Amino acid sequence: MITVIGSINMDLVVQMEVFPKQGETVLGNLFTTVPGGKGANQAVAAARLGSQVKMLGAVGSDSFGTELRANLNEENINTSLVMNTNGATGIANILLYESDNRIVVVPGANSKVTPEVIASAKTVIENSQLVVMQLEIPVETIEYSLKLCKELQVPVLFNPAPAANFDIEWMPYIKYLTPNETECALLFENDVEAALEKYPNQLIVTLGDNGARYFDGEKHVHVKGYKTIAVDTTGAGDTFNGAFAHAVTNGQSIEEAVFFANIAASLSVEKFGAQGGMPKLEEVVARKEGTK
Ligand code: RIB
Ligand code: NA
Repeated sequence: MITVIGSINMDLVVQMEVFPKQGETVLGNLFTTVPGGKGANQAVAAARLGSQVKMLGAVGSDSFGTELRANLNEENINTSLVMNTNGATGIANILLYESDNRIVVVPGANSKVTPEVIASAKTVIENSQLVVMQLEIPVETIEYSLKLCKELQVPVLFNPAPAANFDIEWMPYIKYLTPNETECALLFENDVEAALEKYPNQLIVTLGDNGARYFDGEKHVHVKGYKTIAVDTTGAGDTFNGAFAHAVTNGQSIEEAVFFANIAASLSVEKFGAQGGMPKLEEVVARKEGTK
């Protein structure tokens, strides 16, 4: 069983021909609301592939909260540890232009995932094969969760996104850290090469459709990506992480898991919405075998 400790958002997506400049108004083409949030997205990615997933997080008392909980349930994710809180559910305002995006997140209920909430879920965490985390819940909660996982000897997959709040001191508590190139440069002050060598088999840098790289203790490994035509790259990183979690908890090596996760991410960007194109296991297998 995989436990995801993280955010649940409603994505308010506006598609447009051009991004507005400062002080400018432009007309958009389409407005849609779709389920998102890095935590929920990673949970959905793993569950679609067949993992048993528990989500630890919070929604608000608005209609988004009800919809998002129902969405997680439909994806076969256990939501007994998703709290109902008073006030607004987290949202992400997403501007989509071609396959590029710009996102503003308002945490809402996600800011109510406190250390006390995590403490009360100790048994669930203890019984997890892997805990998956990101950076869209309060920093003190993340820190508390990391320490609790260490104490309970449960490995953590940590996706440092958005990267600004990451603390390097957390490295000893993390089994796998999966920044993208930009996040990695920010976390390790541009010295990506040295960071890779300092954290062998722990730091995995994702490179979009160029795959991912890590250092295996002896040599640098570059796992090739899969090039496809992207419709919407929102959630590609989340798909990578959910799929990576699924793969490593099913006994795959880092190299195999990275390849598997890259294929899953390539399928996810072919459809609209963060969770829209997240594949089922058969689809990943078909693409791996070259039939899709
Ligand atoms: O990683 C993509 C996600 O980031 C979106 O679903 C949005 O909710 C933001 O949290
Ligand atoms: Na998608």
